[in-house]
Amino acid sequence: MGPPSSFFLFLLSFPLLFLHPDQTTAISSDAGGRRVLSTSSRWIVDESGRRVKLACANWAAHLEPVVAEGLGKQPVDVIARSVRSMGFNCVRLTWPLYLATNASVASLTVGESLRRLGLVESAAGVAVNNPQLLNATLMEAFKEVVSALGHKNIMVVLDNQISTPGWCCSKFDGNGFFGDTYFDPDEWLEGLTIVAAIFNSSSNVVGMSLRNELRGPRQNVTDWYRYMQRGAAAVHSANPNVLIILSGLDYDITLSFLSKKQVELTFKDKLVFELHWYGFSDGGDWENGNINQVCGNITRSIMNKGGFLLEQGWPLFLSEFGLDIRGNNPSDNRFLSCFLSVAAELDLDWAIWALQGSYYIREGQLSFDETYGVLSWDWCKPRNPDFLRRISAIQSSFQGPSLSDISPCKMLYHPLTGMCLQQSRLNGSPILGSCAEHEAWNYTSEHELILKDKGLCLRANDEAKKVNFGTSCKDSCSKWEFISESKMLLASMTSKNGSNLLCLDIGPNNTIFLSCCKCLGEQGPCSAESQWFKIINSSRESNASFY
Ligand SMILES: *[C@@H]1O[C@H](CO)[C@@H](O)[C@H](O)[C@H]1NC(C)=O
Ligand SMILES: *[C@@H]1O[C@H](CO)[C@@H](O)[C@H](O)[C@H]1NC(C)=O
Ligand SMILES: *[C@@H]1O[C@H](CO)[C@@H](O)[C@H](O)[C@H]1NC(C)=O
Ligand SMILES: *[C@@H]1O[C@H](CO)[C@@H](O)[C@H](O)[C@H]1NC(C)=O
Ligand SMILES: *[C@@H]1O[C@H](CO)[C@@H](O)[C@H](O)[C@H]1NC(C)=O
Ligand SMILES: *[C@@H]1O[C@H](CO)[C@@H](O)[C@H](O)[C@H]1NC(C)=O
Ligand SMILES: *[C@@H]1O[C@H](CO)[C@@H](O)[C@H](O)[C@H]1NC(C)=O
Ligand SMILES: *[C@@H]1O[C@H](CO)[C@@H](O)[C@H](O)[C@H]1NC(C)=O
Ligand SMILES: *[C@@H]1O[C@H](CO)[C@@H](O)[C@H](O)[C@H]1NC(C)=O
Ligand SMILES: *[C@@H]1O[C@H](CO)[C@@H](O)[C@H](O)[C@H]1NC(C)=O
Repeated sequence: MGPPSSFFLFLLSFPLLFLHPDQTTAISSDAGGRRVLSTSSRWIVDESGRRVKLACANWAAHLEPVVAEGLGKQPVDVIARSVRSMGFNCVRLTWPLYLATNASVASLTVGESLRRLGLVESAAGVAVNNPQLLNATLMEAFKEVVSALGHKNIMVVLDNQISTPGWCCSKFDGNGFFGDTYFDPDEWLEGLTIVAAIFNSSSNVVGMSLRNELRGPRQNVTDWYRYMQRGAAAVHSANPNVLIILSGLDYDITLSFLSKKQVELTFKDKLVFELHWYGFSDGGDWENGNINQVCGNITRSIMNKGGFLLEQGWPLFLSEFGLDIRGNNPSDNRFLSCFLSVAAELDLDWAIWALQGSYYIREGQLSFDETYGVLSWDWCKPRNPDFLRRISAIQSSFQGPSLSDISPCKMLYHPLTGMCLQQSRLNGSPILGSCAEHEAWNYTSEHELILKDKGLCLRANDEAKKVNFGTSCKDSCSKWEFISESKMLLASMTSKNGSNLLCLDIGPNNTIFLSCCKCLGEQGPCSAESQWFKIINSSRESNASFY
């Protein structure tokens, strides 16, 4: 673990509050309060056809106790409120198959289940924080969690994470693929049917992930189609409201087989695919590689393994990504910048791993601290408010049906900070600010970057290494090109003649200046994230008049 990365210092002046208002992703509901989502090409939409972006946090309830984590630490409605206040509109709630199919598990109360595992303190914590749940059965408690989230207007995607309760996932845990020791396809279909039916009447359950991270020696494409189609049919007949979400192979990092053959279903407009992306799956590249090359390569690979589905007209839910939220892991920090550039550009639906700040018990360790958790160990506060500010821009939609009546424009997104390039209200110079208060850009075929509503273009002064706005936009000082394997370095074209190519970079207080373009030729580790800018298609209303 390295020292905390210095960019967090830049973020201290970031304007968003921790408690930010409901955004365009707010959930609509009919008179009965039921939310029924469906798909419209690659978008998830509500009954009125308006885009609903899933911005979720994973909340685990599939470990040995089969109780949603954290109920010994905070009241369930307080946890639900903090999900909302952190800007998420949805929870991907995990469950083990046995919760539905194994009577000796399902008949336990929360207190009994915790105490049988020796988790006496957790049981005492539940008695204090959630007394109404202590003597509830595991299924009743699970339903209470769903309904507490519903009261805070939070959507739920139910995810069948595993069969036998416990930490997931390993290749040889007997839970990896249809036919494994603990993964009987019939039992799975039965469990899916039971859960789908139970939550048919829960208005905020909008989707079901049929099975998490298929894997292991038994996995094969033929069986994937056979069982996923059966699972989808079973869920749909028990609950026609929910989205059906299908996971890929190899721990859900590939859906590439779908480019050749589609899933066959008897119903329409409910099918969503899910993919997972963790930095640690990328084979040490984030630690050892030139970051422009690594991000460029891995982005290409993500497109081949699942991103192509968007172009084919299917929603793709990036249902797990995660990292050390404290910012202590340099590889994770690099991964996050690349992830954010992709998530923003493709405007993906996503779910972060994880909500939980700690587990009752994980892999034998009591009160396990989840450093990937957005909540602190005691579930009282965000583990790292700066991290939440950084992801806040991707928590609301950039594009999609019914946003598209606003004429599309571009935003200039800076993934390292999660902010967008705009003109300072104070002194008129270029500065990074909140993407919620953005300005509309046009990147023209002549390589000019123009603030559409103001007719101002971004201009380079190579000698002073400064950038400013101007009205004369035709000379080379106002030409910009995206360079490097990442295609995210924004180089001034006047500097092309010199020996040092200059790129946009961020300075103190989110100011913008020019510095030598980073990581162009180097082999081996080097960082360029401060120079990364991404053009994002957006139909969000610009508020240039604000500036
Ligand atoms: C039910 O769960 C218990 C406890 O995890 C386990 O020992 C048992 O084998 C399970 N029964 C079946 C039929 O899977
Ligand atoms: C739970 O049940 C036990 C007896 O089974 C009872 O002593 C206790 O008061 C109950 N606790 C709550 C919070 O209802
Ligand atoms: C897939 O698995 C099934 C059952 O385990 C087996 O019968 C079949 O031959 C496998 N197919 C491939 C292509 O490996
Ligand atoms: C589920 O709810 C829908 C209405 O939303 C209803 O039409 C359907 O009959 C219910 N299905 C089952 C299996 O209860
Ligand atoms: C990126 O991919 C190219 C070829 O596809 C390969 O030569 C290069 O080593 C890769 N770079 C990194 C950093 O992974
Ligand atoms: C600009 O956007 C912010 C955040 O969405 C909003 O609060 C504000 O009212 C907008 N201002 C204008 C002038 O549209
Ligand atoms: C962007 O600028 C070009 C001129 O290069 C113009 O033709 C185009 O209409 C502009 N696009 C938008 C969305 O304003
Ligand atoms: C590069 O230098 C040449 C000769 O000095 C000049 O004609 C040309 O305009 C310059 N190009 C740019 C992009 O500044
Ligand atoms: C950053 O802003 C603060 C507060 O406005 C100011 O005191 C400080 O001098 C600025 N730092 C730089 C390097 O401009
Ligand atoms: C952005 O919009 C342009 C058309 O303006 C389109 O060609 C491009 O594919 C879009 N990119 C993404 C990632 O949606």
